[in-house]
Amino acid sequence: MTLLLDGKAASQALRSKLSIDLKKPPHVVFILVGNHPSSLSYVSIKKRTCEEVSIRSTICHLAEDISEKQLLMEITHLNSRDDVDGILVQLPLPQNLRVEKILEAIDPKKDVDCLHPYNLGRLAFGDTSGLLPCTPYGILELMRFYDLDLMQKEVCIVGRSSIVGRPLSLLLSQKSTIDATVTLCHQGTKDLFSHTKRADILIAAVGRCEFIKKEHIKEGAIVIDVGITRQNDRLVGDVDFVSVKQKASAITPVPGGVGPMTVYALLQNSIKAHKQRKATV
Ligand code: GUN
Repeated sequence: MTLLLDGKAASQALRSKLSIDLKKPPHVVFILVGNHPSSLSYVSIKKRTCEEVSIRSTICHLAEDISEKQLLMEITHLNSRDDVDGILVQLPLPQNLRVEKILEAIDPKKDVDCLHPYNLGRLAFGDTSGLLPCTPYGILELMRFYDLDLMQKEVCIVGRSSIVGRPLSLLLSQKSTIDATVTLCHQGTKDLFSHTKRADILIAAVGRCEFIKKEHIKEGAIVIDVGITRQNDRLVGDVDFVSVKQKASAITPVPGGVGPMTVYALLQNSIKAHKQRKATV
């Protein structure tokens, strides 16, 4: 029997245990530039989930043609506001805006997405006490929720994005998390099968529909699917779910796997940012 790692159920159960100061809840601002359809939907899910747990949130919806200078000014203003604990810039941004420059402008203390080089740098140095990257942390919490045997395993991550693959390799290889031996595969990887077949935990984050087939995985592996692509009227992951399920010991569905856990991690970061800011004033 393959265990279904239900991120929706896990995030609901974990959310009910969050402790929020209802008199003065955290306040998060989501910056949304333009009208990218998936971004509109993700931001509204994030806002709704914040409301469900009584975290305050505001959407700062900016025009597609905003200049980099104007966006940077907006972020500087939010950095200075005492009533704002978290700032999240929804990605992707329009082509004329330099992502690194925008993310670096966020006050690291308010970086609830944990995409600022300072926060990623802390993680690289082994500090897992601060804000943590949302999707990687959500994946870790999902596997922990199901009490899977995780310590010192062979992990293979397929995809080296700055939001998922790279920070995930940092998080899972920490002694304080699961002390994993991590292999990070990407387009330049010569023999993908040789790496994926060795993995006790295989994580697919490439953004290519049903890219991972049953031939890629080891019998009994845990398979985590980060991909989510709209194909006709269906949401499709990076893993060929039906065939891979026959071989995996545990697998995430798409949708309803990693996605809700990413939002749970955002709530955790927002509470942490709020507490850490209060502790320093
Ligand atoms: N776009 C897709 N996923 C994410 C995410 O986790 N954070 C942000 N800011 N943008 C995204």
